[in-house]
Parts: sequence; C-alpha cells; structure tokens
Amino acid sequence: MSSSWENSDRRLVTGTLIDDDLEVDRSLRPRYLSDYIGQERIKDNLQVLIDAARARGDALDHILFSGPPGLGKTTISSVIANELDAPIKVTSGPAIERQGDLAAILTNLEPGEVLFIDEIHRLNRMVEEILYPAMEDYVLDIVIGKGPAARSIRLDIPHFTLIGATTRTGLLTGPLRDRFGIEFRLDYYPPEDLKAIVKRSASILGLAIDDEGALEIARRSRGTPRLANRLLKRVRDYVEVRSGGSIDGRSASEALAFFEIDALGLDMMDNKILTLLAGTFLGKPVGLTTMASALGEDPDTLADVYEPFLLQQGLILRTPKGRVATPRAFAHLGLPYPEG
Ligand code: ADE
Repeated sequence: MSSSWENSDRRLVTGTLIDDDLEVDRSLRPRYLSDYIGQERIKDNLQVLIDAARARGDALDHILFSGPPGLGKTTISSVIANELDAPIKVTSGPAIERQGDLAAILTNLEPGEVLFIDEIHRLNRMVEEILYPAMEDYVLDIVIGKGPAARSIRLDIPHFTLIGATTRTGLLTGPLRDRFGIEFRLDYYPPEDLKAIVKRSASILGLAIDDEGALEIARRSRGTPRLANRLLKRVRDYVEVRSGGSIDGRSASEALAFFEIDALGLDMMDNKILTLLAGTFLGKPVGLTTMASALGEDPDTLADVYEPFLLQQGLILRTPKGRVATPRAFAHLGLPYPEG
C-alpha cells in the first residue's frame, strides 16, 4: 500500500510534488462559483460578499480559510479572484522570511488584487507586524536607517484582499485573526458531493462513467476532492488496460481493489495510527507525543493532517487522557473489541 501516488496528496500540500498529474489537476479545478461543487453555505456567503464588493467597486474584505489539507483552500481562493475579475498572487507563510519580502509583495499589488498566503500561521512575528497596518489601513510602515538616525516612513498601498489559509486557527495570533473580516471553515466533502465532482472531472477528461462507478470512487476518497480526482485517473488507467470499457460500479471496485485502496479511503499512515491504537495499545488512551514517536511522525502533522479525518469518521476519539480507537476502528482492522 505504499505506491508513490498514494501520499502525493500530502506532498502537493507542501509544494514539492512535480508530475504530469499536476497539469491534469489544474484542468479539473473549478474556475467560478457556479462550477464549484459542495461547501454550499460558504459559496452562498461568498456570492453575496463578492457581489457587494463589486457593486461598491472596492476590494473584498480579508478572508481566513481553515480546515484540514486537501479540501481546496487554494482552489476556492482562485475562484474568488476569478469572480472578482482580479489577479491573484499565491505565496505561503514560510516563504516570506523577512519584512522586506512582504513589503516587496505588497508594494507590487494591483488595486483589488487577491494575495493568497497559505499556512499563514507560520508567518514569523516580525513579518506579521507589517501585515497589520497593511490589512487595516492599506499602509506600509517602513523603518529606514538604524539607531538614533532611524526614522519611519509610511507608504500607501493599493486596496487588496488578503486570503489566508491555515490548518489550525488555534495557532494564529489573536491580532492577526482579528484583522480578518470573514472566516470560513472548510469541511470534508460528503460522498454525494465527491460523486458529483468525479462525474464533472470524468466529463472534462472525456471518460464514460455511471453513477455507481462515481460513487465507488467517491466513497474511498477520504472526503477530499483532490484524492477523488486522483483515484478517478487511476481507475481510468486500469479500465483502459484491463477492460477497455467504461467505468461502472463493478470495474471501479475491481480497479480500486487492484490498487489496494482501502474501503474507507484510508492510507498507510491512517492505518498505522489505527493499528497502533487498537492493536498495540488495545484501545487504551495514548498521548500525542507517544503516538508521534511510535510512528516516527511529527506531532503537529499527526494532529493537523491525519487525525481530523479519523475523528470525523468516528474511528478515533480525543479524550483528556489521550487518543483512543473506537469499536469502528477495531471492526475496520478486523480485530475483536476488547471487553471492559
Ligand atoms: N475539483 C476539485 N474540487 C472541486 C470542487 N469543489 N468542485 C468541482 N470540481 C472540483
């Protein structure tokens, strides 16, 4: 279960994935709210905010998106820019190392432009400080010189829209979070929405697929559109080579079994976590740091990337004493649930 594409979802998040899937992924991304499937409440809200900003002829207020990786925070930001008919600049918290880096970005913005900062909770504090007046008053305070001769000058910058994305709002400083006028939390997509996304992608790729085939892929997509699109492409490969026909429930489930895709869409690390909690610790509570060292994984990655889906699926619970495997996790692993 460790084929190279399996974890590419996560590698894409850290920005190091380079393969031709990327090109296809781009063609599958929705460009406007009308072709964006799911997240209905957020779309309704955005439509009103965008229409209002356009009517006023001013920049849209700053927006913060939070939620687990892979749910399309970047995609929805480019949809917003398209809807505003505005350009977008994409960067990330760790990429902006010095105040000067951010000053260069801000002074080069066009009026109304969207600035997307991924992993905004990882901005360093010095950089964050020049962001406050930029967000609030569209000004940049720059200190020139050192010591007693130092003086501060204030530059006006264009009205822009900052869109910040974070996997954890808890890690954002209060002052930064307060400066976002709008906050949305993206959640995992239900199978029905993923099914619609798979059908839309299949039609863009010119693939024949029926409802059962699309649902089979949707169910194993870990609640994320990016994985759904990736699985669709692997099922396409299998069907092209093995059966030469269209994708239906039977051929999709054959293909997914062939590629050893877990029935719940869990990947190798998800299963290692469940095996540790259910198999090794027999359902007793385990602390995050213990889990992290047992699995050789960073505690923050466990908490931000892996746990949210396992929690949402009711496979694990967070208790004051630590994480525990639920009866559903035991059943999924084919292990008996310990009595008492
Ligand atoms: N491709 C990826 N995410 C999508 C979405 N939410 N709607 C339509 N197509 C998508």
